[in-house]
Amino acid sequence: MIKLSYDVKKYREQISNLVMPGDTVIELGCHVGGTTKTFPKECNIIAVDNSPESIDQMKELDYVKFIQGDVRRHDVIAEVFKIVQSCDLLAIDLGGGYHPDTVFKVFYIWSSTFKPRHTVIRNRGILEFFNSAHGSGEEYKSDEGYLETYHDSGIPPLIKEFDLWTPSLKK
Ligand SMILES: C[S@@+](CC[C@H](N)C(=O)[O-])C[C@H]1O[C@@H](n2cnc3c(N)ncnc32)[C@H](O)[C@@H]1O
Repeated sequence: MIKLSYDVKKYREQISNLVMPGDTVIELGCHVGGTTKTFPKECNIIAVDNSPESIDQMKELDYVKFIQGDVRRHDVIAEVFKIVQSCDLLAIDLGGGYHPDTVFKVFYIWSSTFKPRHTVIRNRGILEFFNSAHGSGEEYKSDEGYLETYHDSGIPPLIKEFDLWTPSLKK
């Protein structure tokens, strides 16, 4: 299932309706752990953020594996992939008003790599697009947290894609 929100309260509510104790959760854009703290402690939680503000506060959540890094970087996704190869829930909040194109790309790359059962995205632009678009009636739909018609796209095409997408982010 894929869920969208803009209001942070709705984002947390959508997550809490989907997450179960024991789940593996990848959270992108955890900031200082406001949403992270709402996950059951029995979850296997990997949280990523590139803000220096996150470091000390995320350290306090000693049951969470925190990675400081840019979620657009291949080395960051590879670091997470060394820890887990799939997840139950992918939560993405890079800032509700953040560029929707970037957030969608991050969703596409991370979800096709980790194949979550559920993805929850907080982004106004994607929500506005979803609420405004009228489809052609062709039945492309996913019950999973990733785009099922692209289910074979994973790490190898992702590497190529990252090169095309963010050459300036390469070391
Ligand atoms: C609105 S805050 C997240 C709030 C958090 N989800 C909560 O519920 O408290 C957005 C976070 O996304 C992080 N962020 C934005 N772009 C990022 C990127 N490319 N890589 C990693 N973190 C990013 C920012 O550093 C910021 O901490």
